[in-house]
Amino acid sequence: MKHLLPALILSSLPLMVQAQPQDQSTEQLVEEARGLVKQFGGSLKSALQAAIKEGGLTNGIGVCKTIAPEIAAKNSDAHWTISRTSLKVRNPDNAATEWQQLQLEAMARQPVKDGKPVEVWQVSEAKGEPGFKYMSAIPTQQMCLGCHGKNIEPDVQAKLDELYPEDQATGFSEGDLRGAFVISWQQDRD
Ligand code: HEC
Repeated sequence: MKHLLPALILSSLPLMVQAQPQDQSTEQLVEEARGLVKQFGGSLKSALQAAIKEGGLTNGIGVCKTIAPEIAAKNSDAHWTISRTSLKVRNPDNAATEWQQLQLEAMARQPVKDGKPVEVWQVSEAKGEPGFKYMSAIPTQQMCLGCHGKNIEPDVQAKLDELYPEDQATGFSEGDLRGAFVISWQQDRD
């Protein structure tokens, strides 16, 4: 396993954990993926909290729409890709692939294990496939309910209807699986 994946060149990633110039073991890739989730999730959450503090939930929605893809792109490069997905998406661009959907269905039954969000990964040598893919569950927290819960305020709902006419991402309760972070690594994306 150790020598199947070529060396990773990580120096161009501003938020990346330590670069490893030698071939990576699966364990190292998982560590890199965990680091990316931590950075991406953390940046997103603080940006969201700041936007809500500044202009309430409706402001948070607008900011989330712009910054979520931006922060994801900033944390991605020619080899690493980071995104979020869900069984019930707000943004149709985040719809799950078949493999992701299977993982989400299992995660929905048990989003948290031993106090930690459930994670899953796969190493593949198939052509055209990411060499490594990783997912980590996102459980719904209390602070998510204003925009993803059961009782959405009318002004918030109006903003969601305007920006996301196909929104499926409401009706969640605390502890439900809201979605998952998806990290993949491949030799070259083009
Ligand atoms: C201020 C409103 C708001 C709050 C609060 C909020 N979200 Fe969202 N969420 C959004 C918006 C808007 C999108 C769509 C972003 C986009 O267009 O990519 C979204 C998308 C997502 C997605 C991507 C999948 C999808 O449905 O498109 C996940 C996962 C997610 N939110 C999880 C959470 C979690 C977990 C919390 C709480 C920690 C949370 N959100 C809090 C507004 C919010």
